Amino acid sequence: MTSNRDTGESRPARLDRITSGNAQLDDILSGGFPSNSINMLMGEPGSGKTILAEALIFANASVGDRPILYLTTLSEPLEKVVRYLQQFSFYDEEKLMSGAIRYESLGEELAQTGVGALVPRLREAIKTMSPKIIVIDSFKAIHDLSTSLPEMRKMLYEVSGLLTAYEVTAFFLGEYSDDQVSLFPEFAVADAMVELARKKQGTRDERYLRVLKLRGSNYQEGLHAFRITQGGLDVFPRLTSPDIPLRYTANNDRLSTGVTGLDKIMQGGVWAGGATLLEGPTGAGKTTLALQFILEGLKRGEPGLYVNFQENPTQLARSIESLGWNFEEAQRKGLHLLYASPVEL
Ligand SMILES: Nc1ncnc2c1ncn2[C@@H]1O[C@H](COP(=O)(O)OP(=O)(O)O)[C@@H](O)[C@H]1O
Ligand SMILES: [Mg+2]
Repeated sequence: MTSNRDTGESRPARLDRITSGNAQLDDILSGGFPSNSINMLMGEPGSGKTILAEALIFANASVGDRPILYLTTLSEPLEKVVRYLQQFSFYDEEKLMSGAIRYESLGEELAQTGVGALVPRLREAIKTMSPKIIVIDSFKAIHDLSTSLPEMRKMLYEVSGLLTAYEVTAFFLGEYSDDQVSLFPEFAVADAMVELARKKQGTRDERYLRVLKLRGSNYQEGLHAFRITQGGLDVFPRLTSPDIPLRYTANNDRLSTGVTGLDKIMQGGVWAGGATLLEGPTGAGKTTLALQFILEGLKRGEPGLYVNFQENPTQLARSIESLGWNFEEAQRKGLHLLYASPVEL
């Protein structure tokens, strides 16, 4: 609680957050997931839910603090889980061995007792270990066992009551489809919802994530691309228009194009800070002129970045040498090449 300066009353502090284990996702969420909340991570099989949750628990676990409980509906032996986790850079054996992170399976009880198995198990876990975070992977699997909507609602009512009373932050994972979001009661109790998906882009698949709900806070809307790497999710928040100041002073400096005749025609060259389109058919000299511009900059101590989707670095080096430069020397003077194969574009 913080004190309100004007009235002296106290009011709830700004929403406390916990890190998602991913700096970019934290930015998209305006600081992370809300703590003491229920968060849904949804998406088709293989979309990255489990990896996201695992990166999150390793980022939040610390020895000596309240533990983190990972409840799975599968009956996988811990060795198998560990073997899979070991490939990721966020894996920390100490956090598992010390009990800061505990993996437990719900599979058997669910198979025997159905949905009713969850609440007693949660109550027991909360009493004995007081976890600060509980992950249920997959909550959809539990939903699938429910025999009626009233049963599901009653269970959710009890679960959210328990979690709130003991200040637990929960993450429910599941293979939900879009239409289930408006139908299933677990989404009504959720404070935050993040969807992970894959989209076909030509012959490639592209992964993206989207925040569907974040109670009490704004967030960056839209589709954010990501890839899965050894470090977990690597998120690329979507581009948004930068704030442009109402008034600023444009630079009137000219930069030499590296071609004397062209500089004369263009009153000294191109504007610094400007963008110039060089267009022409194959063999017209676009690459040569662009290279002359970059090399002229190098002569004046200005580093240059050449982004290329056509010639690879070896082919470009040949063009640079034919302009009378040594390729290594150009690189020493600040030439940077960024090459992406057109196939991947
Ligand atoms: N080290 C890795 N590098 C790149 N991709 C990986 C790596 N490990 C797993 N993946 C990808 O992650 C996906 C599985 O993600 P996962 O979190 O298990 O999905 P979900 O829980 O949503 O079913 C797999 O499809 C696989 O392609
Ligand atoms: Mg999974």
